Amino acid sequence: MEKTRQECMLKNIFINHDGDVFPCCRLWSRPQYRVGSIRDSDIADRIIEFDKECSCETYSSVIIPEMSDQVETGYSLVKATSTAFNSFNIEFGLTCNAQCAMCCVHAPEWRGSYELYDDLLRLIDRLRPGGIAVQGGEVLAQPRTLDFLATVKGRFPSMRMHIITNGNAPLSAFRLFNVLFETATFSIVGFTDNTYRTIMGLDFDKTKAFIGKVLEAGKCKVSLKYLVTPLNVHEAHLFLDWAVRQKPASIQIADSNFMAYTKEDGIQFWTAVVERSGRMLRKAITRNAAMIGEAGIELHAAPSLRTAFGLDDSYVAGVRQSASAKG
Ligand SMILES: C[S@@+](CC[C@H](N)C(=O)[O-])C[C@H]1O[C@@H](n2cnc3c(N)ncnc32)[C@H](O)[C@@H]1O
Ligand code: SF4
Ligand code: SF4
Repeated sequence: MEKTRQECMLKNIFINHDGDVFPCCRLWSRPQYRVGSIRDSDIADRIIEFDKECSCETYSSVIIPEMSDQVETGYSLVKATSTAFNSFNIEFGLTCNAQCAMCCVHAPEWRGSYELYDDLLRLIDRLRPGGIAVQGGEVLAQPRTLDFLATVKGRFPSMRMHIITNGNAPLSAFRLFNVLFETATFSIVGFTDNTYRTIMGLDFDKTKAFIGKVLEAGKCKVSLKYLVTPLNVHEAHLFLDWAVRQKPASIQIADSNFMAYTKEDGIQFWTAVVERSGRMLRKAITRNAAMIGEAGIELHAAPSLRTAFGLDDSYVAGVRQSASAKG
């Protein structure tokens, strides 16, 4: 199938913690796609002019509901023909309150200091994206970043703000959070206190209390995201049972490429654990399908997890039917 030609630079450019700009977050580790630095005086023009060959595959992760455009074809990059920037995906400093064992940006070892606020503001002011998505590190544990976002919100009140966060913030942080963010993704890694603490080094009750407060206020559209690792794979169904009852806008089951950690050598330990975890998750989705439909929750699972957990086409068709009967 032919790929969809896309003005990728207008969609969601990625700016990493060093200020390097990439056409999208998929390319953050590919130096040949680095557009430049936000420190460069001509960076705005370089973003607009960027024209390199690039293409990718995409896969739909939606389990519920059934969507008409679910067959995805992938993208190929074409040069921007306007300056209508949809969103910037901004990685601030990597300072974090957590110690996640699997952290893909190695935040726990980071000892740097983020000093690019003025450069960012200059770029935002020049290109005026419709929104920004922010992450780190942990933005809620970075007072200077929160001050910066409050400044941006003050100057550009209609600019949408999305945060990707571990949500392990004191309730006193809620007021500013609710002013700043229209949408939020809460990343959860483990569902029992002990597992959560072992992987993230944090207290799960604190996270749940903060998320509860955000949901109760009802202003911010919330996505609850569970990242599967070898140490929490057997708790995905517990997360799902809880998450559905929170009635967020969406629930995501994401993969840390966890099967790469679980190479078998003789004894088929992980094969058995993953098979059992998949069975428990399938049962949880089935028993929650009607409620997912009724509450209008979008349920996503990474394509790799569909295979690992046995969420095959006929299973998915069945739960979609249960969800639509009530939805
Ligand atoms: C690096 S974190 C930064 C934002 C915030 N601290 C958080 O954890 O949500 C951004 C996203 O990357 C995910 N992530 C972290 N380590 C990962 C890994 N090894 N594989 C895949 N995703 C990962 C997190 O769950 C989170 O949703
Ligand atoms: S083609 Fe795909 S990988 Fe390349 S910039 Fe566009 S969205 Fe990103
Ligand atoms: S909370 Fe996010 S940035 Fe911090 S260590 Fe965990 S994954 Fe990394």
